[in-house]
Formats: sequence, structure tokens, C-alpha cells
Amino acid sequence: MKIRSTEIKMSATKRHQYPAEGLPEIALVGRSNVGKSSCVNALLNRRNFARTSQTPGKTRTINFYLINNEFYFVDLPGYGYAKVAKSEKDKWGNIMETYLGDREELCAIFLLVDIRHEPTNDDVMMYEWIKHFGYECVVIATKADKISRGQYQKHMSIIRKKLQLEKDEKIIPISSSKKTGVEDVWNEIVSQYNK
Ligand code: GTP
Ligand code: MG
Repeated sequence: MKIRSTEIKMSATKRHQYPAEGLPEIALVGRSNVGKSSCVNALLNRRNFARTSQTPGKTRTINFYLINNEFYFVDLPGYGYAKVAKSEKDKWGNIMETYLGDREELCAIFLLVDIRHEPTNDDVMMYEWIKHFGYECVVIATKADKISRGQYQKHMSIIRKKLQLEKDEKIIPISSSKKTGVEDVWNEIVSQYNK
């Protein structure tokens, strides 16, 4: 896909702050620090469009990025960050439930997991939540540059097994730093919002 324009539209926590034009949305979810914001940057070929950080918990609001005046990437706050206080976790739950619970514009959710590790119980819960709300789930295995290509299959089957993915559900390995897998993710985005 050719990127003609990108625009940071809004940072929202409440429903009335969401975009109102009815354009399709693709959301990225996953553990804190898994590489969601980096993935947005790699897809857009930008360096620090979505703010990234080595400190987990960087993204605390729902960020809507308008692409080509055509659709939105939605960067959601990460979960599973141990040092976060319970009040913050409750806030996270409310933000997520408000958005995922009822969002007609949302076409698909990309669940990001680290290719190196077995998904956590939080990841499993997130996957089940996505299915519960009736969305398509595409898994993106991040930081693929940290293992050799020969190990991809082994790691991907561990992920598939732990999340109990259905046969037709995909896992796409990506490295945002080496820019590999970006094209595969784009193809999936286009096919999802043309459905
Ligand atoms: P939160 O906003 O806290 O939920 O985190 P996030 O999921 O948006 O993660 P972010 O994109 O900020 O990346 C976290 C860290 O992982 C940063 O230090 C990135 O440089 C690093 N990182 C992200 N993607 C990759 C990748 O593909 N390869 C490598 N080696 N590092 C990556
Ligand atoms: Mg982030």
C-alpha cells in the first residue's frame, strides 16, 4: 500500500473522543513493550511517529492514526506490566472494554506477541476477549530479528498452541527494527478492511 498521508488524530480514553467519520479501524493490542508502537512506525516507514520507549507502559491512551484519509490504525495501551498499580490496571480494563465492547468501525484486531516467548496468560485472555467480542484476530510475532529464521516455525507453533489458534488464523513474524515482514502485515491489513 502506498502511504500518501499519516496524521495523528487523537488520543482518547472515552467514547466521545473517538473519531466520528465512520472510517474502518485496525487495532493493535499486546503486552506492554511487545512492540506495538514500533510496529506502527515500521508499517508507515517512520521513525518516531508513534512514540516508543524502552520503559513499558509508554502508551496509556488509545491513539488513532489516520492513514491516507482512508482508515485508522489504533494503538492501544499495553497490558501485563507488573509495576502498574491496581487502579491503573482497572483504568486499562475500562478503556479496553469501552473500545472493544462496541465499536462498529473496528474490522480486525492484531494481537502482538514476542516471537521468542510462549504467550502469557494475559495474552491468552486477550485472545479470548477478542474472540468473545466477535472480532477477527491476526497474530503478529514481534522482534523476529532476535531469533534465526530457521527457528521461526518452532516458535510459531508454540504460540499457536498456547493461544489455541484456529487453523485459518495467521501468525505473521515481523521485525520492526530490520523491517522484515512489513509487507505481509500490509497485505493482511488490506484484506481485512476490504472484507
Ligand atoms: P507500550 O506502549 O508500553 O505498550 O509498548 P509498545 O508495545 O508500544 O512497545 P514499543 O514499540 O514502545 O517497543 C518497546 C521496545 O522494544 C523498544 O525498546 C523497541 O525499540 C523494542 N522493539 C520493538 N520492536 C522491535 C523489533 O522488531 N526488534 C527489536 N530488536 N526490538 C524491538
Ligand atoms: Mg506503545
